[in-house]
Amino acid sequence: MGPEAAEALLQQLRPKGIFGTSRGVSLVGDALETLRTLPPNTFDLVVTSPPYDGQPRYGDGERYDRDWYEGYFLDVTREVHRLLRPRGSFVLNYRSKRGGSERGTLQYELVFALRRQGFLFCEDFVWGKPSPPPGRFRRFLKDAVEYCYQFAKTEDWQFFPEQCLLPARWDAKDRARRRALPQNYVRVSEPSGQGRRRALAGPDLVRPSTLLLFEPEFAKNPTEHPARFPVELPEFFVRLLTRPGDLVLDPFAGTGTTAVAAERWGRRWVLCEADARYARGLPARLETPRLRPPLATAGRRAGPRTRHP
Ligand SMILES: C[S@@+](CC[C@H](N)C(=O)[O-])C[C@H]1O[C@@H](n2cnc3c(N)ncnc32)[C@H](O)[C@@H]1O
Repeated sequence: MGPEAAEALLQQLRPKGIFGTSRGVSLVGDALETLRTLPPNTFDLVVTSPPYDGQPRYGDGERYDRDWYEGYFLDVTREVHRLLRPRGSFVLNYRSKRGGSERGTLQYELVFALRRQGFLFCEDFVWGKPSPPPGRFRRFLKDAVEYCYQFAKTEDWQFFPEQCLLPARWDAKDRARRRALPQNYVRVSEPSGQGRRRALAGPDLVRPSTLLLFEPEFAKNPTEHPARFPVELPEFFVRLLTRPGDLVLDPFAGTGTTAVAAERWGRRWVLCEADARYARGLPARLETPRLRPPLATAGRRAGPRTRHP
């Protein structure tokens, strides 16, 4: 879907949304029902965090158990496959619960289930939490990691590491070694506008790794949502896997952190969230001045670390 078609889709969806901006729209409703109404080959990135394994259901007292993931959730991922553009990616943030003395295996089983649906399993990013929430565990340690699985529809999935370069923090010897590495170069346009050349992207800027170290979201949360993304998480994937103007979907959107990341980096977005109380928090999050300045972009040094709304 090109920019005009994305714009036309947003125009069509805005009257149905609870909130919209020039770049996106937030829909309140069931993810599966909503996704079924959207046209195929539409989204460049789908990034989401479905309800946690074993978590009490929002509102109705039941739990999101294995049946929910093996039934409803896989129906949603089938729709995600239909909705992705050929070069698009689906990033699933998920972590199975522990039960008794064992770690749940659903997180691994879902990878196989999605491959059977036709997805390619591209990468397993690990979200590491330097200060995980406290908990009382008899046999286990504090749980400090979650997975972010990247799936794609075709082998030619789009990928823009040059949009995610990070300041390196190594000694002088390492910097000299890195200067020789091809991945530390980016292609830049000549100032004359005539042609492009290879330019050193560092030595102070390097590609990030698949270990994403972000603190969990502890900031004040007026919607009282229990499990928000830190904004850095969708932000990382928005920058790695899309270009400005691309269209991003989050079908289990909660408070809309994915839209905060998409707005910040000039991407279009569509959210779907079942609970209007959570969706209502988004306008205030987008207005807050704490959104600026953004994190580092390719070719620039990172600014000071910012707290996010
Ligand atoms: C882990 S939270 C997502 C939080 C979000 N990433 C954020 O940063 O706020 C999962 C969300 O899925 C929503 N949800 C659960 N079942 C749903 C359904 N059938 N359709 C749409 N949303 C649903 C819940 O209300 C909850 O807000």
